[in-house]
Amino acid sequence: MKVIYTIADLKDYLLKEKQNNKSIGFVPTMGALHAGHISLVDACTRENDICVVSIFVNPTQFNDPNDLATYPRTLDKDLALLEPAGCDYVFVPGVEEMYPEPDTRIFRFGNIAEVMEGAHRPGHFNGVAQIVSKLFAFVEPDDAYFGEKDFQQVAIIREMVRLLGMKIKIHACPILREADGLAMSSRNLRLSAEQRLKAPLIARTLKESLTFVSCKSVREIIDYVVTAINNDPVMRVEYYEIVDGNSLESIGNWRESDYIVGCITVYCGEVRLIDNITYKG
Ligand code: PAJ
Repeated sequence: MKVIYTIADLKDYLLKEKQNNKSIGFVPTMGALHAGHISLVDACTRENDICVVSIFVNPTQFNDPNDLATYPRTLDKDLALLEPAGCDYVFVPGVEEMYPEPDTRIFRFGNIAEVMEGAHRPGHFNGVAQIVSKLFAFVEPDDAYFGEKDFQQVAIIREMVRLLGMKIKIHACPILREADGLAMSSRNLRLSAEQRLKAPLIARTLKESLTFVSCKSVREIIDYVVTAINNDPVMRVEYYEIVDGNSLESIGNWRESDYIVGCITVYCGEVRLIDNITYKG
C-alpha cells in the first residue's frame, strides 16, 4: 500500500495503472476510519483492480468551526486498517494541496440540497461537492463508493456526477452498525460513556417504527419517533423526515412512492448523530 501526499504523485501512479488497463475504484473519506468505512473499501477491492482511498478532513464542508477543530484525526490507525483491507493507494493531501486558492464554485442542486442536512448545515453540501468533484477529477475512478448512512450525500453526489457529465459509477453501500444498532460513525468517538449507552435509542426507535407502517400514518410515525427519542433528556431530535428516496421530497402517505426513507438527525449531548431507515423500496 502506497501513501501519497501530492496530486502530481497521485496522477503519476494512477496513470501507470490505467495504462495497464487496471480499473480504478475510489473511496473518499475524512479518516477516523471504522468498520463502516472498511466495508466500502471491501466493496471497492472486490469490484476493481485497484482501490484508492482518500483521507482529507475537508474544511469547506464544516459549517461549525468547532466541529472541524474537534474532528478526530487518527492517521496511523487508519493506515493500519487500510493495509489489510487490500487498499492499494491512500491519498492524504494537506489543505494547501486541495485548496491552493479558495474554491468559489457554487453548485445548484435544488431541492435535494435544500432539505434536511441542507437546511440545517448551510453550505455543507456545496463543500462536499467542491471536494468530491476535485477528488474525482484527480483520481478519475471508474467506480466510487459511498455509505447510505449519509443518505442525502449519495443523492448529491449522483446529481453532481450527472451535472458535470462525469462517467463514474456511484455505489451506495449499506449502513454498518455496532452490535447494539448504533450506526458506526467517526463522531461516536466523541460520546461520553453515558451518551454511548443512550445513543442506540435512535436506531432502536427507527427499527420499531418499521413495524407500525401497516397501521399508522406517516404523520403518526414521525410523531412517534420524535417523541420516543426526545423522551430521553440526553437526546434532542433536530429533524425527522420521511421522504421519497429519489427526490427527497417529504411524503404525506405511504402510497405516494415506491421508495420511502426516514432520515433523522439527533443531538446526543453535543454530538450530532445521523441515521436513516428504509420503509419501502
Ligand atoms: P466520512 O464521514 O469519513 O465518510 C466516508 C464514507 O463512509 C461516506 O460515504 C460515509 O457515508 C461512509 N460511512 C460512514 N459511516 C458509515 C457506516 N456506518 N456504514 C457505511 N458507510 C459509512 O462522508 C464523508 O466522509 C465526506 O463527506 C466525504 C464524502 C469524504 C467528502 O469530504
